[in-house]
Amino acid sequence: MKKIIIAIDGFSGCGKSTTAKAVARALDYTYLDSGAMYRAATLHFLNNFTNLTNPKQIQKSLSGMDVSFHYNEQEGIQQVFLNGLNVEEEIRSMAVSDQVSEVSKIGEVRKAMVEKQQKMGKHKGVVMDGRDIGTVVFPNAELKVFMTADLDIRAVRRQKELLEKGEMIELEKVKKNLEHRDKMDTGRKESPLKKADDAVELDTSYLQFDEQVSRILELARQRM
Ligand code: C5P
Repeated sequence: MKKIIIAIDGFSGCGKSTTAKAVARALDYTYLDSGAMYRAATLHFLNNFTNLTNPKQIQKSLSGMDVSFHYNEQEGIQQVFLNGLNVEEEIRSMAVSDQVSEVSKIGEVRKAMVEKQQKMGKHKGVVMDGRDIGTVVFPNAELKVFMTADLDIRAVRRQKELLEKGEMIELEKVKKNLEHRDKMDTGRKESPLKKADDAVELDTSYLQFDEQVSRILELARQRM
């Protein structure tokens, strides 16, 4: 069977990463969370008090930033590191979520991230999720999925996830953050979030988790 690239894009909080992880596990592929890279960049900018309207400061911050993935044997997945430190937990905080769409609209940041992502997909056998994977990073991906879900349902799911990590955030605040990120991500000039013409749309509002995974696996197997 030939190895393929599976690109999963969609709105914030649709369950892209949990789905992509399960798909990768089932196929023995590498799962790569491109959002984690933009989150790590955001954490770096926050740590360095980078002024996002100052191109010189952005350049300086970027030159001191190393975002990479390392395989965690215990978890069985690639985890994101910032300048040698595992930041997988820290990048999921609301502080990072609130800023990440501002950082990810910066052209230089995207250029640096896309280059790394394309290198990681060179040998195929990769499931990558994000916003521009099927449109910009891997426009020739064999399978492109565009995930959507009702905003209220996404907010409830995301609030539960945050709670499981010990962060208690009001539902309205979680919903506002998702809404804000969707608006920023779809409206930005650089690589806006949009469905690739050849992507398969998957509305997960009323799908069971196992159902959404098996739908993607079925589509993947048709392309191998
Ligand atoms: O996937 P996740 O929700 O963790 O992504 C966080 C943010 O990173 C998104 O809201 C978006 O602004 C940005 N992002 C992006 N392009 C990607 C992945 C994520 O702009 N490929």
